[in-house]
Amino acid sequence: MLPEAFLLLLSAAISSAQTRQELSINQLASFNTSRLPNPPSFNLPDQDELNITVALCAGSNAGPFPRFFVSNSTHSAIEDDPGPSGGTDVYEIMVGDGHGSWTGKFPSGGVLAVDVNGAPQTTFEIGVSNADPMHEVLTNLPLFGDSTANQALIFSAPFLAPSLPKPSYPNYTLPGGNLSFPDPPSSSPNFTIIVQSTASGIASGHQTGCFLSSQRSSLNVNVVNQTLWLKDADGWRSQWILGGLSPSTNYTVYVVQDSTKVSGPIYFATKSAAYSCPLVASLPYCPGIAYTIPLPAPPPGAAFYDNGNLPEAITTPLISYLTNFTVSLGTFACGRDIYSPLVGCDDCQREYRKWLCAITFPRCGEPSPSSSGSFTSSSAPASATGLSAVQGTGDAQKVFSALVPQDTGRPELRRNQNFPEFTNPYSLLLPCIETCNVVDRTCPAFLGFRCPLPQFNAAATYGVGYIDSTDGDQDKGATGAAQDRWGNVWCNSG
Ligand SMILES: *[C@@H]1O[C@H](CO)[C@@H](O)[C@H](O)[C@H]1NC(C)=O
Ligand SMILES: *[C@@H]1O[C@H](CO)[C@@H](O)[C@H](O)[C@H]1NC(C)=O
Ligand SMILES: *[C@@H]1O[C@H](CO)[C@@H](O)[C@H](O)[C@H]1NC(C)=O
Ligand SMILES: *[C@@H]1O[C@H](CO)[C@@H](O)[C@H](O)[C@H]1NC(C)=O
Ligand SMILES: *[C@@H]1O[C@H](CO)[C@@H](O)[C@H](O)[C@H]1NC(C)=O
Ligand SMILES: *[C@@H]1O[C@H](CO)[C@@H](O)[C@H](O)[C@H]1NC(C)=O
Ligand SMILES: *[C@@H]1O[C@H](CO)[C@@H](O)[C@H](O)[C@H]1NC(C)=O
Ligand SMILES: *[C@@H]1O[C@H](CO)[C@@H](O)[C@H](O)[C@H]1NC(C)=O
Ligand SMILES: *[C@@H]1O[C@H](CO)[C@@H](O)[C@H](O)[C@H]1NC(C)=O
Repeated sequence: MLPEAFLLLLSAAISSAQTRQELSINQLASFNTSRLPNPPSFNLPDQDELNITVALCAGSNAGPFPRFFVSNSTHSAIEDDPGPSGGTDVYEIMVGDGHGSWTGKFPSGGVLAVDVNGAPQTTFEIGVSNADPMHEVLTNLPLFGDSTANQALIFSAPFLAPSLPKPSYPNYTLPGGNLSFPDPPSSSPNFTIIVQSTASGIASGHQTGCFLSSQRSSLNVNVVNQTLWLKDADGWRSQWILGGLSPSTNYTVYVVQDSTKVSGPIYFATKSAAYSCPLVASLPYCPGIAYTIPLPAPPPGAAFYDNGNLPEAITTPLISYLTNFTVSLGTFACGRDIYSPLVGCDDCQREYRKWLCAITFPRCGEPSPSSSGSFTSSSAPASATGLSAVQGTGDAQKVFSALVPQDTGRPELRRNQNFPEFTNPYSLLLPCIETCNVVDRTCPAFLGFRCPLPQFNAAATYGVGYIDSTDGDQDKGATGAAQDRWGNVWCNSG
């Protein structure tokens, strides 16, 4: 016979435990700390392994925050709520930047308890998954294309690798000059872009989808166009053209996938109000081109240049060059004869296309407002050798973007003569020399493709020494990349 008091206690435990709600697998649950069940705990289902994640949706990163404890011994009725005092099989889900995750085995279920920990009223989400975690801070970042005074072109991180079959002998067919663009994937994550002025300090708040989504502010930023785009072999991305931005302002961008997976932040700055180069994007024959070019404003009704409104005087010769190059390349017995153990004609054509596009579409640029010193202010002389970009020594050393002011008084000097004269003052961001060197490396020697040499005059027409070192050491240049997540763009990588 059990003593009566113990029976009473037991039945109290049972009745309170019976009110414990079970968290469903693979379903997001949202809670408010001021409306938690009593006791503030939930049952977890029996599963070989669960990925449990929590995301704080409100409040400041300074705390105090609620704490989350799991126990995976059992979810039997008499199980006490796991808490700060610990015990066997009790674990805390550590929360940092508003996000916490814990993976463990639940052979006989478990309990998750919330300790409000004196936090002011707040909301949070719990995701219990028997597959990948529901909440995630993704390591792949969004990609900045370019900006004008009040627009910006942003890509999500790639979400799906393209399925491009490699051609093979005897039917070695290369894509045509005017690339026929593959159909976009039928399903994609549900992407939300979040844009805030950097001054708002959004990056110091919780890095969770629910928090960031609630920070979509009073800014007048609007999405002018959103499409899925296969920019390069990395895969499909969501492409946004944003409008309504303010000139010379630093912005912070996040991309949230399916409301719970956070990619970012990246930063970019809009150009000054006087900046007059419009954006071009969505060109099937130049899928990588997504930046500002020296053309007059796009035709009325269009926010940017695309396949439908670019002057034919630019596109027809470009496609003709690509077609002729493909014909010349095809005189090689591609796929039967091997000119390199590493690459084939398809790689050669792809890199040539990338290079030709970067050369055909001169890229405009402007010194960054916050660090005007990080851009070159004068053109490298035609005799320039090596990297003109790094100047100064020691701590004062700065990397200058390959930015060259154009002499609009001498239109005969413009980079692509098929472009109409552009009378507004502007600066060109030179192509990265690597876009040329990779063609040299991947194409058969009989094509005679050559790039200017760093020790000769390459720096007059290319950004040299940014990605690869001037000696050619890969990724050992001054910046190791054409651009960074802070909004600096060093050279045009096409
Ligand atoms: C949380 O609950 C409190 C009290 O019911 C309410 O005032 C508050 O608006 C709720 N918060 C959210 C974000 O729903
Ligand atoms: C609880 O999870 C931990 C971590 O996965 C594991 O080591 C432990 O054996 C689990 N406890 C039980 C009772 O399964
Ligand atoms: C939990 O997530 C990790 C990735 O963070 C994954 O490797 C693992 O397979 C997931 N667990 C289950 C049961 O799917
Ligand atoms: C050759 O390949 C192309 C593209 O992959 C395909 O459309 C065509 O049907 C193939 N021709 C033959 C004869 O297999
Ligand atoms: C390229 O092909 C697309 C259709 O695949 C067509 O809409 C476009 O007009 C073509 N572009 C040029 C410049 O011929
Ligand atoms: C995508 O996410 C947004 C914001 O979270 C939501 O309003 C919308 O219903 C979602 N769409 C789909 C198709 O899931
Ligand atoms: C977005 O841009 C693409 C490429 O220019 C275009 O095909 C599409 O129609 C645009 N979508 C909308 C909704 O304007
Ligand atoms: C491509 O080749 C054709 C035929 O040889 C020639 O007429 C045309 O001018 C070439 N295109 C370019 C851009 O050189
Ligand atoms: C934008 O702001 C970030 C964070 O303060 C800073 O690191 C970055 O250099 C700024 N970028 C530009 C282009 O001004």
